[in-house]
Amino acid sequence: KRYGVIMAGGGGTRFWPLSRKSKPKQFLNITGEDTMINDTIKRIMDLVPPEQIIIVTNKAQESTLKKVLMKEIPEENILVEPFGRNTAACIAYASMIIEKRDKESCMGVFPSDHYIKNVYEFQKVLDAAFCIAENSDKLITMGINPTFPSTGYGYIKFDKESPIKINEVKTAYEVKEFVEKPDVQKAKQYIESGDYLWNSGMFVWKTRVILNNFERFLPRIYYKLKSIIDLLYNNMGYQELEKVYKDLPDISIDYGIMERALDVAVIPCNFGWSDVGSWDSLGSVIPPDENGNIIRGEHVEIETKNSIIFSNGRMVAAVGLEDMIVVETQDAILVCPKRKAQDVKKVVEQLKKMG
Ligand code: GDD
Ligand code: MG
Repeated sequence: KRYGVIMAGGGGTRFWPLSRKSKPKQFLNITGEDTMINDTIKRIMDLVPPEQIIIVTNKAQESTLKKVLMKEIPEENILVEPFGRNTAACIAYASMIIEKRDKESCMGVFPSDHYIKNVYEFQKVLDAAFCIAENSDKLITMGINPTFPSTGYGYIKFDKESPIKINEVKTAYEVKEFVEKPDVQKAKQYIESGDYLWNSGMFVWKTRVILNNFERFLPRIYYKLKSIIDLLYNNMGYQELEKVYKDLPDISIDYGIMERALDVAVIPCNFGWSDVGSWDSLGSVIPPDENGNIIRGEHVEIETKNSIIFSNGRMVAAVGLEDMIVVETQDAILVCPKRKAQDVKKVVEQLKKMG
């Protein structure tokens, strides 16, 4: 059977002040008609039935999640971490629960806060990825054509000479190297070489195979969680989980497993992907108007260009702005030039320090 795991415990700090600790990006409706997490579920629901979709969140976000989450997902499919310990722990936990339900399963892992333009094309890729996972022991990634030397993504070096034929529509390739978040020099080299794709952050594999990889490369996570998994599976053991989680290394699946794993494949994808990482990336998701602006809510705009203006209640008047971001919410206002959009996360760090 095919399972899906939706990772919904991240912070989304670069979308402050719209995203907050208890209500991060995945629970907002930034791009479509629904929240990003429900859009994520709808995209995979044709291939993975809702009873087999597991959502992993944390205590601080649990109530927000339950408010927005679509009703098709059964309550027992929501796994609550005491707090975030990064994606490796999140995936290990979900994999062990899935293995309890079905030893022969395959699973896809999905971030909850990404945008995909062409859902039909995405589903073809996902189906192909499940096909490889069902017929091999490979860890399958989805690769995106890189457009600039980003230091915020994983890079996948693939072997063009070794196509793995899946079906009539899709081809996968053996992965030679997986490098998570390289420095900018390396990122530039990778882009120039033409041999690398960005990691989209979605993965497909046999449940048994990823658990073997945890045992080998992240044994601490594997054995600690394994020791309490029967309790967790029976909806008990939350206090034990809290104790165990404190001891788990804070490491992502990318550093912890993908960089080290031996048998990795990639499917090059072209479905219009964006991780909507920060305010300035909104333009790749929502088409700007004829002046290059993206504007929501009550506003007056005079001679404003290439700017993002979000009002959530009060009137925002923008006069002569260029390449600016203005976001109004009930209790906070952001004003920031677009080129500094990455630094919005520093506001959140600063606010945390201030208490
Ligand atoms: N449940 C849970 N618990 N979810 C988490 C946790 C956690 O501790 N930490 C992160 N997540 C969720 C986030 O909400 C997001 O949906 C997803 O896991 C990925 O985490 P990010 O923190 O956004 O990862 P990243 O963007 O730095 O890097 C990953 O994604 C890139 C593409 O956007 C990596 O896989 C990169 O290699 C990849 O290029
Ligand atoms: Mg991300």
